[in-house]
Amino acid sequence: MLGYALLQSKSPDIEVMSVYNPSEDPLKYELPGSSRALDVSNLSKITALFKEFKPEAIIHTAAQGSLDWCEENKREAYAVNVTSTKNIINLCSKYGAHFVFMSSNAVYAGDHGPYNEKVTPKPVNHYGEMKVAVEDFLKSQDVSFTVLRPNLMYGWPCPGGRDNQVTRVISSLRAKEPINIVSDTYFSPLSTTFMATVTWHVATNMIKGTYNIGGADRMTLFELSEKTAKVFSLDASLLSPISHKDTQAAAKRAIDTSFDCSLMQRELKFEPLSVEEGLEGMKERGSK
Ligand SMILES: NC(=O)c1ccc[n+]([C@@H]2O[C@H](COP(=O)([O-])OP(=O)(O)OC[C@H]3O[C@@H](n4cnc5c(N)ncnc54)[C@H](OP(=O)(O)O)[C@@H]3O)[C@@H](O)[C@H]2O)c1
Repeated sequence: MLGYALLQSKSPDIEVMSVYNPSEDPLKYELPGSSRALDVSNLSKITALFKEFKPEAIIHTAAQGSLDWCEENKREAYAVNVTSTKNIINLCSKYGAHFVFMSSNAVYAGDHGPYNEKVTPKPVNHYGEMKVAVEDFLKSQDVSFTVLRPNLMYGWPCPGGRDNQVTRVISSLRAKEPINIVSDTYFSPLSTTFMATVTWHVATNMIKGTYNIGGADRMTLFELSEKTAKVFSLDASLLSPISHKDTQAAAKRAIDTSFDCSLMQRELKFEPLSVEEGLEGMKERGSK
């Protein structure tokens, strides 16, 4: 989702080599610029790509992003989310490339949001633990890096890509299907378009540091879904609130991982978008 948003907002001055999961090869849609299928856990192919392309910066968006899948498949998830990432960091160190890592709001315990960067990470699930493992590794290496911790992201995914809270609600409500939504976990929902703009800024300027990136509103998934129904003129009465305790999810959920984004505002000079602004932008750009 974020990789696709990045490519769609890429400046023509930037030469990009994008890679996608070989499981999706051949792609059913066009990507702007050069791209190729490449498994990020294939070290020899990744090394060959560094030698061939000599990147000045890497934006690392590839990951297994499902909290529950990662909890149930810890070894496989670790191989992609941690081991492969460490390999790429080592290559950045060797070739002098700046590394931009997508961490997560899941690094926080969720017991006293909104979180700023001064709070020590204390994840409650394996997905969050893996993000912290990479952040810690980065700090121990001689490499130029930015850690971006996106909050819960929403936006149009690539065609056939993983749904997010907003697109899931749009699909259900357009099909007039009722849908249960968790109403007791809090986030700072973040538009992928906004996240892509921030990411290009830190990557092209090679800004070093760790930043929490979120939207302007602290809200539950249920409130986000109600806003989605309103902006897309869909029937909100099909939405039912449930507790995260009733979902029987494999991974433990943090209750409140909303963000205080003052560091982003102060140092990166970006003002967070409201959910309404982010959803209106999605509506303008049109559905997948
Ligand atoms: N979405 C959020 O709300 C959120 C919040 C905080 C942080 N993040 C982090 O931000 C980053 C981007 O998130 P996203 O939502 O854009 O994720 P996404 O849509 O799931 O994209 C991740 C991509 O990585 C690919 N991938 C997985 N294993 C791979 C491998 N071995 N080799 C090559 N490609 C591989 C996936 O392919 P398949 O789909 O074919 O597996 C997918 O295309 C991730 O690091 C995620 O953990 C996301």
